Amino acid sequence: MLVLGIESSCDETGIALYDTNAGLLTHTLYTQIELHAQYGGVVPELASRDHIRKLSPLIKQSLAQANVSFTQLNGIAYTAGPGLMGALLAGASVARSLAYALNIPAIGVHHMEGHLLAPMLEPSPPAFPFVCLLVSGGHSMIVRVDGIGQYTLLGDTLDDAAGEAFDKTAKLLDLGYPGGPNVSNLALKGVATRYHFPRPMVDRPGLDMSFSGLKTFTLNTWQAAVKAGDDSEQTKADICRAFELAVADTLAVKCKRALEQVGFNRLVVAGGVSANREIRAKLNALMLKRGGEVFYPRLEFCTDNGAMIAYAGAQRLLAGQHNNLSFATTPRWSLEDLPAV
Ligand code: KG4
Ligand code: ZN
Repeated sequence: MLVLGIESSCDETGIALYDTNAGLLTHTLYTQIELHAQYGGVVPELASRDHIRKLSPLIKQSLAQANVSFTQLNGIAYTAGPGLMGALLAGASVARSLAYALNIPAIGVHHMEGHLLAPMLEPSPPAFPFVCLLVSGGHSMIVRVDGIGQYTLLGDTLDDAAGEAFDKTAKLLDLGYPGGPNVSNLALKGVATRYHFPRPMVDRPGLDMSFSGLKTFTLNTWQAAVKAGDDSEQTKADICRAFELAVADTLAVKCKRALEQVGFNRLVVAGGVSANREIRAKLNALMLKRGGEVFYPRLEFCTDNGAMIAYAGAQRLLAGQHNNLSFATTPRWSLEDLPAV
């Protein structure tokens, strides 16, 4: 089965072709980072307009790259939520219209299920069941995964998502948008021992997380340094290092606790923040110590992409699932509401 995948939930237009026999044929990504950078964050209306401009040309380009014609497609998968309403509608309307014209099924994919299944595109994919740490710009969740569509939410963030905390930290240190990679790169030059940031909620039982306090701690630390006349790049780097270590430690504590709670020794980490070096190092060390396994998507599939949507949609289409002609988008949508495959 040959499936076209369309991702347009936020500021990236991702297109991919996934064949359930041959694997991923092609994938392409157009990022709107430059468009939004001048505003310090995503402007939803501009995002929608840019998706509309890019979707058609990118779909045609992907088909040409894979040497595939429209009539060879067997199904279309598009991100139906969660995400920005206008951005989702842009992708959903193109997907639905195309499926109608070609008389093939279309399926609305949960964006976070796409992230969660992204490691399945790697040469050695994880086997079920596993614990998944899903850390992106909009979500931070710990999920028990027993199979596709068999998700139990074990922990969630009470306020900011991990990626959001990186982005806000970058903004207050004037490091530009998107913040995660910039904070992480500057942290490489930071001295780990200069500041110690709190590890939020690790001393409390449970698997929920909270990152907004860390952001405030960053702000206070930076303002105190500026007041003392030290607004150097080194100070920013030291703050980034302390911040990153605090996030990485916190996530490692929560993952360890989740694995112990459900009795698994297999961890999957996905979503934009799973690209982070320090977080990967901490989680690798944790799983090495436990004699368990840890899986990540390749770096380009940590952040938003069409390949994960094509993959997730293909699994559901293969099982006979699809949506009817009305293209409902679901800006708010729980993973636990998905049907099993
Ligand atoms: O999954 P994603 O592309 O979009 C959402 O679904 O939200 O995640 C984007 C988030 C942003 O907050 C970005 O700052 C963060 O992932 N991110 C990182 C890194 N690369 C991306 N955070 C920390 N370290 C990174 N290397
Ligand atoms: Zn995402």
